[in-house]
Amino acid sequence: MIEKDFDVPFVAQLAQREKQIQQHYRPVIGVHKWFARRPGTLFRALLLAEFGDEQPLANRFFSSHDLSPLIVGDPFMGGGTPLLEANRLGCHVVGADINPMAYWIVRQEIADLDRPAFQAAARQVMDAVEPEVGALYQTTCMHCGSPHAPVKYFLWVKQQLCVACGEPVDLFRSYVVAKNQRHPNYVLLCPLCGALNEVERLDKSPGAMRCAACQGHLVVEGPARRNRCACPQCGHLNPYPQAQQGPPTHRLFALEYHCPACKSTHRGRFFKAPDVADLSCLTEAESRLQTSSQEFIPDDSIPPGDETARLHRWGYRTYRQLFNRRQLLGLSTLAAAIAAVQDETLRHALLTVFSDTLRYQNMLCRYDSYALKIIDIFSIHGFPVSLIQCENSLLGIPRIGSGGFRHFVEKYDKAKDYCEKPFETTLGKPKRRIFISGERIGARLVSDFPAWFTGV
Ligand SMILES: C[S@@+](CC[C@H](N)C(=O)[O-])C[C@H]1O[C@@H](n2cnc3c(N)ncnc32)[C@H](O)[C@@H]1O
Ligand SMILES: [Zn+2]
Ligand SMILES: [Zn+2]
Ligand SMILES: [Zn+2]
Repeated sequence: MIEKDFDVPFVAQLAQREKQIQQHYRPVIGVHKWFARRPGTLFRALLLAEFGDEQPLANRFFSSHDLSPLIVGDPFMGGGTPLLEANRLGCHVVGADINPMAYWIVRQEIADLDRPAFQAAARQVMDAVEPEVGALYQTTCMHCGSPHAPVKYFLWVKQQLCVACGEPVDLFRSYVVAKNQRHPNYVLLCPLCGALNEVERLDKSPGAMRCAACQGHLVVEGPARRNRCACPQCGHLNPYPQAQQGPPTHRLFALEYHCPACKSTHRGRFFKAPDVADLSCLTEAESRLQTSSQEFIPDDSIPPGDETARLHRWGYRTYRQLFNRRQLLGLSTLAAAIAAVQDETLRHALLTVFSDTLRYQNMLCRYDSYALKIIDIFSIHGFPVSLIQCENSLLGIPRIGSGGFRHFVEKYDKAKDYCEKPFETTLGKPKRRIFISGERIGARLVSDFPAWFTGV
């Protein structure tokens, strides 16, 4: 019984640890982002305390159980934690939610998946997309000259037209592209010629740092400050954002790429300013988008709300405006390849991956100049709009970077692997993973209550 057998200190420790790195304790959550994930250990403990045998909870927690034929219902199932735990313990489960996304996610979490078939279908989709748009995600390596170095991230700065002279103004708060913790040097953008300079330390005294390309002065701080930015042409102080100018425009100013050939001899990351070929990829994406199918590109407007008010203040009116043209082209090509997968179960699994990867494939993603990685749109609750935005690689580079479709296919596969072989992690040191053989997450889905359930 829950009142007697629930062991608060034991469960609190488990739940606290799980919440620190939830995906290590419950990889099933990797099926899709859900904002309010409750700890699975808590619900396992609640169920075992209520329905298990007389043994202390801490003894029973790490062994296998079968609570069938219990039926557990959750009329507000959200991300599904209670249902997944109940299913794993052998219960029949019934769930509902007013949010269709909750229904979709819980269904994908709990439905069985033929993993080898899923992996093959994902490969097939990526093989179909790569020749279509892969070249738009490549650049020429600055060191060996290979024209096929895969791009990890494209960095864009917001621009605004000066209300006095009409010239576009880059809204840079800082010219530091990368800090020196994960890279041997600081990387500084030259405001005069756009070259990227590697400097050992930041010296803010006037004239201390010079651009290797144009000899102009390098500075750390950009002109954008406290919602005001001075125009470099005429000096006019422009307020930003200016929603009446429409959604923000962006200018590509840097790339972080990966060169497998140079990796072993190169120290740190690979940064470059865009060259002519990088810029022509953008015009190519734009013209191809104009003639390509728009079937998978929604036109929905962004509704008013607490979190969306910021987007409206920045002039965004439709969700489509949160993506650049290469993203729209790449994502619609990917969506079309997934739509062509015949098997419905596999198609739904891949669509779930697609939906989750969108949070790393839009122009509200930011770049962490300290950790040198992309930050997804939902890293904090509520659409933060940055002056620098990071465009991710669409398919992702194997074992490099994060948030690419390929990375999320792997995450989904790991999630479903956990469903087949769930484990618990012990308290104490060293932590141990205990695979609970005899339990699994997985169910045959039915859309109506069976006769034995209703008694009809
Ligand atoms: C806090 S979450 C529940 C999470 C889940 N029960 C758990 O413990 O992990 C609440 C959920 O209730 C859903 N909800 C709110 N009003 C509802 C309604 N009238 N009918 C069905 N679901 C509703 C929301 O969409 C949300 O997903
Ligand atoms: Zn190279
Ligand atoms: Zn001006
Ligand atoms: Zn310069």
